[in-house]
Amino acid sequence: MAQLQHFGWFFGRGFGPQGWGHPYYDWNYRWTSPKLYQHSIRELEQAGLDLLIIEDALSLGSRETLDLRIRSAYGGPKLDPLLLTPYLLDATEHIGITPTINAGATPPYLAARQAATLQHLSDSRFGINVVTDVKSARHFGLEELAHDAAYARAEDWLAAVRKLWHSWGDGALVEDRDTGRYADASKLDAFHHEGEYFRLDGPLNAPPFADGDPIIVSPGGSGPGLAFAGANSDVQLALAPLTVEAVTAYRAKVHESAVQHGRRPEDIKILFVFKPEIVDSQEEVDRVVEASKHPTDAAVRAILEGQSSDLETDLTVLDPDAPFDPSIFGQHVSQGTIRGLVGDSGEPQTLRQIATRKAKKGSIADGSGFVGTVGQVADFIETLGDDAGNDGFIFSGDLHPVTIHGYLDALVPELRRRNILRSEWGDRGTRSNLFG
Ligand SMILES: Cc1cc2nc3c(=O)[nH]c(=O)nc-3n(C[C@H](O)[C@H](O)[C@H](O)COP(=O)(O)O)c2cc1C
Repeated sequence: MAQLQHFGWFFGRGFGPQGWGHPYYDWNYRWTSPKLYQHSIRELEQAGLDLLIIEDALSLGSRETLDLRIRSAYGGPKLDPLLLTPYLLDATEHIGITPTINAGATPPYLAARQAATLQHLSDSRFGINVVTDVKSARHFGLEELAHDAAYARAEDWLAAVRKLWHSWGDGALVEDRDTGRYADASKLDAFHHEGEYFRLDGPLNAPPFADGDPIIVSPGGSGPGLAFAGANSDVQLALAPLTVEAVTAYRAKVHESAVQHGRRPEDIKILFVFKPEIVDSQEEVDRVVEASKHPTDAAVRAILEGQSSDLETDLTVLDPDAPFDPSIFGQHVSQGTIRGLVGDSGEPQTLRQIATRKAKKGSIADGSGFVGTVGQVADFIETLGDDAGNDGFIFSGDLHPVTIHGYLDALVPELRRRNILRSEWGDRGTRSNLFG
């Protein structure tokens, strides 16, 4: 029998104008109103997803790239996902909610206290997606750390956060009416944390948790990113090619790091980002795949627009049919990201060729892409579970009912029929759903 897997939703591009640029913007939800997200997350919960992860970026970028970020709403405006979270928790009963927190921006004591509050308010359904992006440092008057140093800071940050969460020892809460004693300070740990980046005193003024710490999620895929995941995370948000070989190799790296840090491989769920396109028949698969080989000018432009925002380099002002020179990218754009866009061949190519390659879709049944019938998509999910030991997947998109229904309407019943997707919930919060 197929094994049960875990599913989540990555609310990519975060708490911003949901649906902008799509016809469904005219469903007339107001993106600044909680109703849109409450409606959407109820659907995710009904679908049996364990987790919603909310992307965030703290900055619109530099003066030079502001327009790139906001003109199509790819990178902003954006509101704070932590403050949206209580509305989502209030609309649901079972699904876990993990907004993004940047370890360089929120001081550990404040982060520990906010997370503790939401963990209590939610009956243990809260978590944090810990990220290390450094581009917002100047808004906080902070030095912009290098990539690996930002991970070292995140380790120090999380160590301090955890010490704060655990600073109320067993028996600290007494609640004895007869003696009139509510709590016992001798059981509190007034520790001093002296890390490389953070220096602070405990204890936290929040009481201990009934069902474990908030869930720690991490998305980094570099060496330090995977090491951070192995050492610390309950869930790794994994971005990798979705083959049995690549998923097995990715899992092995995270598990190796977990073991090095005294944890068990099963202490971490590795969930792979997955964006299937579900269509009605094999004929439609063939038609969609074939049509994608010839993207319209509008489709090419939309791809270049998105890449321009992500890479902070305006590709839309260049001639799409002239040879493209990758030296246009600034030093801050990662080499891996550039390679992902232009490929490794070193052959001269135009932006239209690059965008056409990005637009190209393939069939999930033959492993060339992610377009398939519901049966083919479910086969794919089942195979990765059975042959690569995969823990599950994260769907990625905006938090809009139209997007959610596009992925899940046909897939949920098919996965339930195969016992791959939960129909029941644990009663002790997100940790018990993921690990119970
Ligand atoms: C699937 C995925 C989701 C991410 N989500 C966020 C996010 O919400 N906010 C953010 O600042 N960075 C986010 N990142 C970026 C990572 O935090 C990190 O800065 C980046 O991946 C570089 O780390 P790496 O070199 O270890 O991959 C995300 C990365 C991935 C792969």
